[in-house]
Amino acid sequence: MNYPSRVKLVDVGPRDGLQNEKQTVPAAVKIELVHRLQAAGLKEIEVTSFVSPKWVPQMADNVEVMAGVTRQSGVRYSVLTPNLKGFEAALACQPDEIVVFGAASEAFSQKNINCSIAESIERFAPVVAAARAAGINVRGAMSCTVGCPYEGDIAPERVGMLARLMADIGVQRVDVADTIGAGTPLRVQRAIEATLAHFDIDHISGHFHDTYGQALSNTLAALQMGVWNFQSSVAGLGGCPYAKGATGNVATEDVVYLLHGMGIETGIDLDKLIDAGQFISDFLQRPTNSRVGKAVLNKRCA
Ligand code: HMG
Ligand code: MG
Repeated sequence: MNYPSRVKLVDVGPRDGLQNEKQTVPAAVKIELVHRLQAAGLKEIEVTSFVSPKWVPQMADNVEVMAGVTRQSGVRYSVLTPNLKGFEAALACQPDEIVVFGAASEAFSQKNINCSIAESIERFAPVVAAARAAGINVRGAMSCTVGCPYEGDIAPERVGMLARLMADIGVQRVDVADTIGAGTPLRVQRAIEATLAHFDIDHISGHFHDTYGQALSNTLAALQMGVWNFQSSVAGLGGCPYAKGATGNVATEDVVYLLHGMGIETGIDLDKLIDAGQFISDFLQRPTNSRVGKAVLNKRCA
């Protein structure tokens, strides 16, 4: 098996992780989390989103969070922007990358961003053009590439169709997201295969939620295809408010443990990452969702 020798992880904890929290997380805590992630060696961090505060109140402090982060050179800070209004607000915060987010499922597109897939692409097109003109990188998140909370199984052809639409408007790389974490390795591989018709392997990342405990297996299946970019959340935080029942992303700690155990470099210091996970779990007053985090913390106490 030909695995990549190096993997790049985007920690989406401050955004995907915290967007679903009911209790307000103060901007200072979010900023501290970003600082801890970069100190642990993360080179890409999804910091916040510029969405409607009526839809996702937790992200209403986006400007404050972006302004409070002391940036480290070599780290890419990304933010979600669903439309031009969001992009214009984000632009003032100088993100390194913006993320437009669409879905392979019509029903999820409606529930999440209040428009059809075709309308979403029409909204994204000027955002992508403006970002690229401003020298900002553009990523496209593709939700429900395996299953949808409203439509059930999603066929790979629908993923291929969305990837083509994203490529046509100038999106530079895409995330194959298993939003509800119901995917299994072969189905995830089919979604990636469908994406490969429009993006090369260097421009595809895996974004796997862990609802059914399959995310590490799905990560391994993607690695076997040569995917070397993944998104994950410190402490396994996360979930989408419009994908009921879906739990967090695969924990970054667990992915790092898997990769290091396979001799694959990440540039991440696992101990510092576990400390970052402990920091946010303490704030949320619950144990970490990372199995590796729990094991290492138990070992430290022993
Ligand atoms: P809408 O209601 O259709 O928007 O929402 P609208 O254009 O009709 O505007 C309605 C109001 O929202 C107006 O304000 C606008 O100004 C305001 P009002 O006049 O009523 O006071 N508005 C905005 N305010 C701030 N920022 C904006 C913005 N746009 C409009 N950007 C909209 C459409 C897309 C805005 C809404 O549906 C929304 O914010 N959705 C976001 C949902 C979301 O954040 N979901 C979670 C992220 S996606 C995810 O987690 C999946 C992912 O992790 C991958 C995976 O796992 O699958 C990425
Ligand atoms: Mg997600």
